[in-house]
Amino acid sequence: MALSMMSSSSCFLARKMESTAHGPVMSTRSSSSSFFSGNAAAGSMQESLKNAAAASSHVVQRVTTTTTTHTRKKIVMMTSEFEKTNPYAEELKQTAAFISQPGKGILASDESNATTGKRLATVGLDNTVENRQAWRELLYSAPGLGNYISGTIMFDETLFQSSRAGVPFVEVLKQQGILPGIKVDTGLQPIDGTDGETATQGLDGLADRCKRYYQQGARFAKWRAVIKVDSEKHPSTTAILENAHGLARYAQICQANGLVPIVEPEVTLGPGDYSIERTAYISEKVNSHVFRFLNEYNVILEGILLKPNMILPGLDVPTPPPEEVARYTVRTMLRSIPAAVPGIHFLSGGMSEEEATLNLQALQAYGPSPWSLTFSYGRALQSSTLKIWSGKEENWKAAQDRLVALAKANSEAQLGKYTGPHPSPGGTRILQALRLGGAGK
Ligand code: 13P
Repeated sequence: MALSMMSSSSCFLARKMESTAHGPVMSTRSSSSSFFSGNAAAGSMQESLKNAAAASSHVVQRVTTTTTTHTRKKIVMMTSEFEKTNPYAEELKQTAAFISQPGKGILASDESNATTGKRLATVGLDNTVENRQAWRELLYSAPGLGNYISGTIMFDETLFQSSRAGVPFVEVLKQQGILPGIKVDTGLQPIDGTDGETATQGLDGLADRCKRYYQQGARFAKWRAVIKVDSEKHPSTTAILENAHGLARYAQICQANGLVPIVEPEVTLGPGDYSIERTAYISEKVNSHVFRFLNEYNVILEGILLKPNMILPGLDVPTPPPEEVARYTVRTMLRSIPAAVPGIHFLSGGMSEEEATLNLQALQAYGPSPWSLTFSYGRALQSSTLKIWSGKEENWKAAQDRLVALAKANSEAQLGKYTGPHPSPGGTRILQALRLGGAGK
């Protein structure tokens, strides 16, 4: 892990926080993630986590003096009881700032066993535990991946798995300087009375699962809400409210148990001729509802990450140029995402690998932004990597090289420095059906 990257992360945070006046700092709580302790990269990484959070500590408390008709007393205004009593409050901010540091993003590899099976089938592999394990080992052990990736989202099975040589995946990631994360939703179910709209499942027993995941080394989590869009009817108010509520309650439970919640309200790229304006309008409404509910549950905004869609029109509309996507995307975020959120990690959502990089690069031209505009890509990092590997030992290195080249291209795009050529030029959209069902689907 390059030290220079660390300090630039802290400076970024400090600059961001300085520019948001919140009043004097009266006290700070200290706590730090022990995830990296004992590792050579650990010292600098922990320092970086602490520095990033120190810059944000002034938003914790404000003190004001008020006069009432009865008494004159000093009232300590706390952001919320939830934050005041949360032993993880500072650690959450450090973790979120670490993941959103400049030039880095998230590798989303949290596909359920069923979805992983569908992906493996595209290269002729059976959906066995051994094949899933080998595929994840290829990803996590790719030499140099930690230069561009700060966190990876895993599925329950994977978080507890080891490499074929017996090294726990959590340890493999730690050696790369990558924080493990965990998908905690358990899938989608239809909302009765709607036309195919869905609610995300997984609140039951979530606190206990979070505790177990934290103990295993996870430091952040993901919950995906899916919002269906078309030209006139969808989304319904019911679907927006249901999903915004689910995201907020999930986020609060994660924060109570030390995990940074990735809040993912995905307005899905779907069939139809709805315009880019329409997606922008809907995404703005959805994000605004989500943040209203996050506020209702006192979720600590400096300790979350947002994972939205980029703003794209329906699939029947020609693909717009990156500048247009970026203009609508940044406008939507500015209108609906508070500046306290450290990072916006876009999903690739079916964009081709090159399209995902070019759009990410184009976003940076609209800066400086209050948040880091970066990536949490699944398909746009994995698709050609999987194809190259195809389950063959002799392709292992070439596939790892492809993954790292894709991560590097997106890292450069995050910094606004991508010049190409792209490791996976051209290509088509990588679409998948909506996932419906319960756990493991
Ligand atoms: P894609 O980048 O393939 O959209 O996946 C990201 C993800 O985690 C969706 O939930």
